[in-house]
Amino acid sequence: MTDYAQGEDGSLKNRYCMVTGASSGIGREIALGLARREARVFLVCRDSGRGRSAQEYIRQQSGNNDVHLLLADLSVQNQIRILAMDFMQQHGVLHLLVNNAGVIMGKRVLTEDGIEMTFAVDYLSYFLLTNLLLGALRAGAPSKIVNMTTSLHRLAKLDFDNLQGEKSFGRQSAYARSKLAVVFFTYELARRLEGSGITVNCVCPGACSSAIWSHSSRTINAFFHALMKGSEEGAALPLHLACSSEIEGLTGCYFETRQHLRISRVNVKGTESKSSRATYDRKTAARLWEISERLTGLAGAP
Ligand SMILES: NC(=O)c1ccc[n+]([C@@H]2O[C@H](COP(=O)([O-])OP(=O)(O)OC[C@H]3O[C@@H](n4cnc5c(N)ncnc54)[C@H](OP(=O)(O)O)[C@@H]3O)[C@@H](O)[C@H]2O)c1
Repeated sequence: MTDYAQGEDGSLKNRYCMVTGASSGIGREIALGLARREARVFLVCRDSGRGRSAQEYIRQQSGNNDVHLLLADLSVQNQIRILAMDFMQQHGVLHLLVNNAGVIMGKRVLTEDGIEMTFAVDYLSYFLLTNLLLGALRAGAPSKIVNMTTSLHRLAKLDFDNLQGEKSFGRQSAYARSKLAVVFFTYELARRLEGSGITVNCVCPGACSSAIWSHSSRTINAFFHALMKGSEEGAALPLHLACSSEIEGLTGCYFETRQHLRISRVNVKGTESKSSRATYDRKTAARLWEISERLTGLAGAP
């Protein structure tokens, strides 16, 4: 079994790779894996202190100094616009975008833009940032987009009257619904990008001990954190999607890690999976796309 976190396939030298939510957890480990493969890595973080310490950690662990910090709070659409605009102006090319940032909110909180926070960060930031960077991804083609989702999307329903928990809010349901939206988005984007040389897939990394569970009860936390995998193992499948020539050209797919516990090592082979039946409904995907365009002020996306 290959250790995908350590190395697989060839070098990513001269490849421009961006990872959102790279200050901790799975995102930091994905960024480390890319840096180890000699990529030029851009870490998108909201906090400069946490961002700098992740940058330092990745440079030290990988021996690759070509690791750069970009600051943006992805719950704020204007910051996403500035991030994308600066990146386009300074670099203009991107070979890999990993939309990884995520939160689980203990209660319903609205962002500056008036969007429910979980929906804004876990889904809408992926939609907006990706669309704004499509020019760079086209310039870098063949290029890849990897979106982080969760197998918990199967518990959710895309109720358009309660997309942002307007009628009822639960931390788990808000999270599952946002990640369900990520799956719909991935499939719709793959259809829209057919023939462009840009592939887009989504992945559930499996349950990993990380800060994202900080709103769970202490008992659940203590119990699960003892059993859950570490972030390094959680990064294995996303890294496989990002780096392996085995999945070259594959687009519009959902991948899932089935090993959730520490006791088994991750075998990333054969992990392409079926998402919930509802996610294959094109009409729902198109409706979500339209709503997302409206919520982000994007018009005429691909
Ligand atoms: N852990 C699991 O069991 C699991 C399972 C399935 C899917 N996932 C997915 O994997 C991804 C990574 O999660 P994780 O477990 O590694 O959690 P994590 O350690 O909490 O990492 C989340 C990352 O997102 C960043 N983030 C949160 N809000 C942000 C914002 N407004 N702007 C910019 N960055 C923001 C965090 O930054 P700060 O350091 O500033 O908070 C952090 O870097 C998420 O999309 C999650 O849904 C995780």
